Amino acid sequence: MDSFELNKIAGAVLGALLLAMGTGFLAELIYKPKPAGDRGYPLPAAQETAGGAPAEAQKEEPLPVRLASADATKGQSAAKKCAACHSFDKGGPNKVGPNLYEVVGRAKGGHEGFNYSAALKAKGGEWTYDDLDHFIRAPKGYISGTIMAFAGVSSGAERADILAYLKTLSDKPVEFPKP
Ligand code: HEC
Repeated sequence: MDSFELNKIAGAVLGALLLAMGTGFLAELIYKPKPAGDRGYPLPAAQETAGGAPAEAQKEEPLPVRLASADATKGQSAAKKCAACHSFDKGGPNKVGPNLYEVVGRAKGGHEGFNYSAALKAKGGEWTYDDLDHFIRAPKGYISGTIMAFAGVSSGAERADILAYLKTLSDKPVEFPKP
């Protein structure tokens, strides 16, 4: 009986040891390949950075962060490039493009008396800051088929400034999304 009890204890100790060793072995199996995998990454990444564009895309802050430091006065002067086609004042006329007073929160293609493209009207929904950011960055990229003949503003900071300016063009400004 006694030796049987001892055997049970010895078995338990041995089992625990085996478990510990097995766990260690498993842990090694799981964690060992990682550094080797990491080692494979830097080269292609470095080559991509040399290309320029992907690195720039990575550098752009998310919109709420850009808006938090946006400057409406700078945006107003940046928006001069829009003024050839758009008026910004309340009750202003539609020109080549629709009047942009209170455009934030307005239905897409929703300004009275402007003959929008079918593509813009089909987009649907209201102009959020996020949508405007995408549209101003690359109008045809956001709405293929839009008749807004404008290449877009590539600088994320400048687009945020323009959005900050558009925010001021309202009797009830729409709040920026929170970062
Ligand atoms: C060459 C003329 C031109 C320039 C420059 C231009 N736009 Fe436009 N914009 C248009 C036209 C035309 C439309 C109507 C597009 C459609 O119906 O597809 C439009 C539509 C828009 C709309 C959609 C409005 C709505 O009521 O749905 C916004 C927002 C807008 N433009 C913002 C801008 C901003 C901001 C700039 C400057 C960064 C700018 N545009 C520069 C011609 C222009």
